[in-house]
Amino acid sequence: MRAIRVEETGKPGDWNKLVVAEVPRPEPAEGEVLVQVEAFSVNRADLLQRRGLYPPPPGASPILGLDCAGYVVELGAGVSRWHVGDRVFAVVAGGGYGRYVVIPEDHLIPIPENLSFTEAAAAAEVFLVAFLNLFLEAGLQKGETLLLHGGGSGVGTAAVQLARESGACVIVTAATAEKIERCLQLGAWAGINYKTEDFARRVRELTDGRGVDVVLDWIGAPYLGKHLDILKPGGRLVIIGLMGGHTGEITLAPLLTKRLKIIGSVLRSRSREEKAELVRRFRSQVLPLLASGSVKPVVDSVFNAEEVETAHQRMQEGGHFGKIVLTWSD
Ligand SMILES: NC(=O)c1ccc[n+]([C@@H]2O[C@H](COP(=O)([O-])OP(=O)(O)OC[C@H]3O[C@@H](n4cnc5c(N)ncnc54)[C@H](OP(=O)(O)O)[C@@H]3O)[C@@H](O)[C@H]2O)c1
Repeated sequence: MRAIRVEETGKPGDWNKLVVAEVPRPEPAEGEVLVQVEAFSVNRADLLQRRGLYPPPPGASPILGLDCAGYVVELGAGVSRWHVGDRVFAVVAGGGYGRYVVIPEDHLIPIPENLSFTEAAAAAEVFLVAFLNLFLEAGLQKGETLLLHGGGSGVGTAAVQLARESGACVIVTAATAEKIERCLQLGAWAGINYKTEDFARRVRELTDGRGVDVVLDWIGAPYLGKHLDILKPGGRLVIIGLMGGHTGEITLAPLLTKRLKIIGSVLRSRSREEKAELVRRFRSQVLPLLASGSVKPVVDSVFNAEEVETAHQRMQEGGHFGKIVLTWSD
């Protein structure tokens, strides 16, 4: 089968080349399904993995790719809930950049009729991650206020919509006025340009000094102190990435006096059972919103699989709003 392969130079950190190559097609084991991938998306972690900085968890495919959308083409032994020809999407721990991928049957999600493969691929990773971290990890409630960095990112565009649907008030940060405007259209209440404004001071102004209940963060170290500062008593900070730095120093007092929670969360390395439980809850709570069009995957751009270098470059340059999707053609 065709897959996008990383041609490693051997030096960690190098922008290894990506090439479409012939590789062995995987076979579904018991309880697994073989999916013919029609569309898959670029996730920020792919840029790290191609540089040797984010290896796949043990047992996962070494091929890049954390999500996909396609057709069921073969069933492993004992699979009863899917049929050949079903349209499905899923997150995977690796292998989404291959034309075929094997996926445990309880990780698959049916694609609602109103969504194309491109849209389903744009939804898979980011809607699951937003749902997991906003609601299951942070316990975001109706009437609470959320600070969401990078509202125009893949995860951000999903999180704004899910938080809005839950009745939470969303403040986003973004690098440009245009991205802020588009986040407001998705349902954010306010936007802060993190390049030109001190986001913590602006959050205090916007909330009359009260602060926020939940922060969804992937910047990490440089924002840690400010986040503890602007969280209300009982507030929750969920860190899902470390784009700005890994090591920070904080004053611990607010953690105690305000009874704050700092939660670290990764989806990719969770066990098969944990992912199955997440998918079960996603299917009952989020899939109906996607199926009714109440929330929509935001597609920034679509490339052919052969154009993967251009797709990665677009994410690296940061001009995108929503998801960058790749598609296979015969
Ligand atoms: N833990 C997990 O399970 C998990 C799963 C999926 C994703 N993630 C993480 O979630 C993050 C988003 O992923 P993605 O695929 O959606 O990436 P993406 O589309 O490339 O988004 C990155 C975003 O970060 C924003 N940003 C960069 N520097 C910033 C700063 N200093 N202050 C505020 N915002 C800043 C950018 O905003 P502008 O474009 O406006 O500059 C951009 O929107 C990544 O760090 C990724 O690794 C974690």
